[in-house]
Amino acid sequence: MKALVLAGGAGTRLRPITHTSAKQLLPVANKPVLFYGLEAIAEADIIEVGIIVGDTAEEIREAVGDGAQFGLKVTYIPQEAPLGLAHAVSIAEEYLGGDDFVMYLGDNFVVGGIRDLVDAFRAERPTAQILLTRVDTPSAFGVAELDESGQVVGLEEKPVQPKSDMALVGIYLFTPAIHEAVRSIEPSWRGELEITDAIQWLIDQDRNVRSTAISGYWKDTGNADAILEVNRSVLDTLEPSVHGRVDDRSELIGRVVIEVGAEVSGSRIVGPAVIGEDTVIRDAYIGPYTSVSANCRIEQSEIEYSIVMRGSSVRGVRRVEASLIGRDVEVTPAPPIPAAHRLVLGDHSKVQISS
Ligand code: G1P
Repeated sequence: MKALVLAGGAGTRLRPITHTSAKQLLPVANKPVLFYGLEAIAEADIIEVGIIVGDTAEEIREAVGDGAQFGLKVTYIPQEAPLGLAHAVSIAEEYLGGDDFVMYLGDNFVVGGIRDLVDAFRAERPTAQILLTRVDTPSAFGVAELDESGQVVGLEEKPVQPKSDMALVGIYLFTPAIHEAVRSIEPSWRGELEITDAIQWLIDQDRNVRSTAISGYWKDTGNADAILEVNRSVLDTLEPSVHGRVDDRSELIGRVVIEVGAEVSGSRIVGPAVIGEDTVIRDAYIGPYTSVSANCRIEQSEIEYSIVMRGSSVRGVRRVEASLIGRDVEVTPAPPIPAAHRLVLGDHSKVQISS
């Protein structure tokens, strides 16, 4: 069994962060989202992984390399344009050969990994296996229609009027029958070869398409709130550890990870929180559910329930909350407003000045 990981795509819904960085590399508890997927694949005893890359290929290659850090053998498969998930399968057909495979969308995150799912698929080998989860915004996903017995009877991509709130999770298990399905479909209204249509084709051919409902799922559906939430749930599982320096004027409370080379002085950190490599925290308060990446500086500021990406600084700012701060960002206080009032007042004016 192989894995096909999709790490192309433009990430338009997460601009401006994704103007300069791949959405699959957004950090969750200081680790790129994509790495959780690769770890889940390795944990399911899959070694050979094809990664589909697009415009951000270089950045993905730099982060993942040959996959050895995960115990994987990675092959990169360039996709010239984001022409759809089924298009990605078709360009990977030669690489996949006659093997079964799990297709994993690199911007998806599932709690609990995929080991049990892959084991069950290996044992029973339905033609295809999909995962479904209840979502608040089904029109942003592929949506399944189920009969009373829970069998999938229809799938629709980004429907305007969804038939249910059960969305397709971006993790699919396929036998090689999917290749014939991909060859049999036409591009959708959005000009993409949809995997949803290929799976629908299998259903129409009375092939065995199985579905499993899961909870604990996340995908970037367009806002920082979702990323902050998944960051929160991952930080909740953190094992506290201190590999950097914490002076005796500082206090760490609860699940706090201080990575190598980080320096904490005169500060209070209330976990769950992670402070990245070589980051400086000085005279600051870091509150629960905060991930500060490597090479950042947080000074004379308070920050809580936020993600700060590498190389950024927050200085002299009273309180930052529920924020997603990109790479190499500087947050500083606004210059003080001039203290004097300058007035041009007409006759009989009455003015109240609060100061
Ligand atoms: C893709 C699939 C969609 C699925 C979603 C999960 O959407 O087309 O069916 O629900 O992934 O992440 P896209 O990433 O193209 O918006």
